Amino acid sequence: MLKTSLCDVLGIDVPIILAPMGSATSAEFAAAVSNQGGLGGIGSLFRTTAAIRRDIDVVRELTNRHYAVNHIPPTLDEDAFRYTLAARPAVISFALGDPGDLVRQAHDVGSRVMVQITTVAQAIQASERGVDVIIAQGGEAGGYGGNISTMALVPQVVDAVAPIPVVAAGGIFDGRGIAAALMLGAVGVNLGTRFLATKEAPISDEWKQAIVDAASEEAGKVDVLNDISPLPGTVGFQTVLRSLRTAFLDEWSANREGARRDRDRLRKHIVSTHQAGRQHETLLTAGQTAGGITEILPVAEVIRQLVAEAEAALSRAQAR
Ligand SMILES: Cc1cc2nc3c(=O)[nH]c(=O)nc-3n(C[C@H](O)[C@H](O)[C@H](O)COP(=O)(O)O)c2cc1C
Repeated sequence: MLKTSLCDVLGIDVPIILAPMGSATSAEFAAAVSNQGGLGGIGSLFRTTAAIRRDIDVVRELTNRHYAVNHIPPTLDEDAFRYTLAARPAVISFALGDPGDLVRQAHDVGSRVMVQITTVAQAIQASERGVDVIIAQGGEAGGYGGNISTMALVPQVVDAVAPIPVVAAGGIFDGRGIAAALMLGAVGVNLGTRFLATKEAPISDEWKQAIVDAASEEAGKVDVLNDISPLPGTVGFQTVLRSLRTAFLDEWSANREGARRDRDRLRKHIVSTHQAGRQHETLLTAGQTAGGITEILPVAEVIRQLVAEAEAALSRAQAR
């Protein structure tokens, strides 16, 4: 079995984490990954407090395995954070900004703490906060992220924060990527886009199919989103969303001045497409891994393949 020290730290069977993807998260999705031995995650970004609370309540009915609840320090939903602390999940994770004292609060209720970072300096700051696991997210990643590639970032972070365990994120879609992450010194992986193209992912079929159909070069950084919605990309860590192309993004990327002027209307438009389950008309958040993802599969099958491929790749590497 593909076991690493991360499995002991987080109380999981395989060192594979479902990225807590704000707009693409549900208790059912998180439980599907946890029940296969990975770490499921519930996101909070761009969600209502009621939806987050519902997922925290429901996930416990669907799995007795460990899962994570994710919070975004620069836009912290304090009610949802308090609710999370009361639920005492095995893991509380943070991204897109310095969690500061939130780390202590999470530790006080007995949760392990993970922080996702995009630079070595942010990793060092997280280590000084006393976090248990650091996720080094390369710029290939879907969602909000930085510019430094996973290959360049992970080994630097591993050296900078040793002995804190490091998880790699961004650009990993198969078992070879997991094996490579382990070679770089990571002890696990945090996958977003690969899990979006699963039966259980709570997103529209159009979004899933767009990932399957896309080439990697179609997953670009959309600076215009920070013009329209300055949070969280311009507060906290400096991040930019990576998304597949949409007519909406093409139009406003070519007219950023207009997007800044019209930002309130455009923000409302994005929110209303999300609420109507038609997010794909505005944003198709996905990483460069989209080019390597060719099938929509059940979560169990994705994890089975990832583990088998990683083990095969690690044996091949040893045989050289
Ligand atoms: C649709 C989407 C939403 C995301 N939202 C969050 C989030 O709310 N919190 C977070 O920590 N990471 C979020 N991420 C980033 C993931 O944690 C992870 O770093 C990324 O998906 C890894 O790259 P990959 O997509 O190539 O696997 C999101 C990613 C995607 C694709």
